[in-house]
Amino acid sequence: MPTDSIDTSSISFTALYTGHTWLANDLAAPVFRTTAGSLYYHALTPFEWLGRGVLGDNFRTLLLQRHRIMDHLLEEAIETRGVTQVLEIACGLSPRGCRFVRSYPELNYIETDLPDMAARKKALLDGIDGSVPQVMPINIFASDGELSLDHVLDQFDYSQPIAVITEGLVVYFELDTITEFWRRLSRRLDEFPAGIYLSDDYPMGGGRSRPVQKMIQTAARLLGTAARSPVSIHFEDDAQMRDHLMALNFDEVSVHDPRAYYDVLPIPKSRGNPIVRVIEARSDQGR
Ligand SMILES: C[S@@+](CC[C@H](N)C(=O)[O-])C[C@H]1O[C@@H](n2cnc3c(N)ncnc32)[C@H](O)[C@@H]1O
Repeated sequence: MPTDSIDTSSISFTALYTGHTWLANDLAAPVFRTTAGSLYYHALTPFEWLGRGVLGDNFRTLLLQRHRIMDHLLEEAIETRGVTQVLEIACGLSPRGCRFVRSYPELNYIETDLPDMAARKKALLDGIDGSVPQVMPINIFASDGELSLDHVLDQFDYSQPIAVITEGLVVYFELDTITEFWRRLSRRLDEFPAGIYLSDDYPMGGGRSRPVQKMIQTAARLLGTAARSPVSIHFEDDAQMRDHLMALNFDEVSVHDPRAYYDVLPIPKSRGNPIVRVIEARSDQGR
């Protein structure tokens, strides 16, 4: 199927749940509150407890782990790698852009999402005093036109290092489909003096027992059914994840395990091997 024809708007409601998670953990201002987000968040509380008790992990834990690790890596990219511009794709109701433009007033931060979600985010940000990120529509599967990655990247300065983020997005697509996007992104990042791409993903193996794997698969199936877009497990382990991204011409790829950050960042701990990983793929040999 040509990727241009993929309609992924059914995924957008998941941003309400994640949005409320950021709010409930003091990562977002009260203006980010939505009635639906609060409703979903509270309705799923018993399942979150169950996941925590049985699996030693749950959605809330992995969301906070990935979000804070990405914040940390983005700070590092700005402070030590000269990143002056950020493209956040599938931003949903994430408050990251707001937090970063306040901490780094010179940063050019553009948030993007599918047109309806982008309009919603823009309306929300219009109600906030002070600096806020710009918002633009995108569809990662649009091959040309106003919604395409090419058009959005053209809004940035090709003489400056850039960071690109996708949080909570790639898991909704099969590996072949998302790989096409990763390949295009990697090619385009080569046009900047340096590019860094941050994303979350979820390896299945890494020593997990069969019952735990089964439970993760069931949770993924339920999420996919709710989002009407099957959730895909792309990789067996961290090494496979790294090798796959390296093969797409990134110059350096690191896979961050939340366990390495337990003593560094205020993140909740999983019992055993955490479900989430954060990918940091760098393109350092641009023009
Ligand atoms: C789970 S939410 C994550 C939102 C935000 N990044 C966060 O972590 O709170 C997934 C987001 O992906 C967006 N999305 C779905 N399909 C997309 C596409 N084809 N291109 C860009 N964004 C898309 C949805 O609208 C939604 O906002």
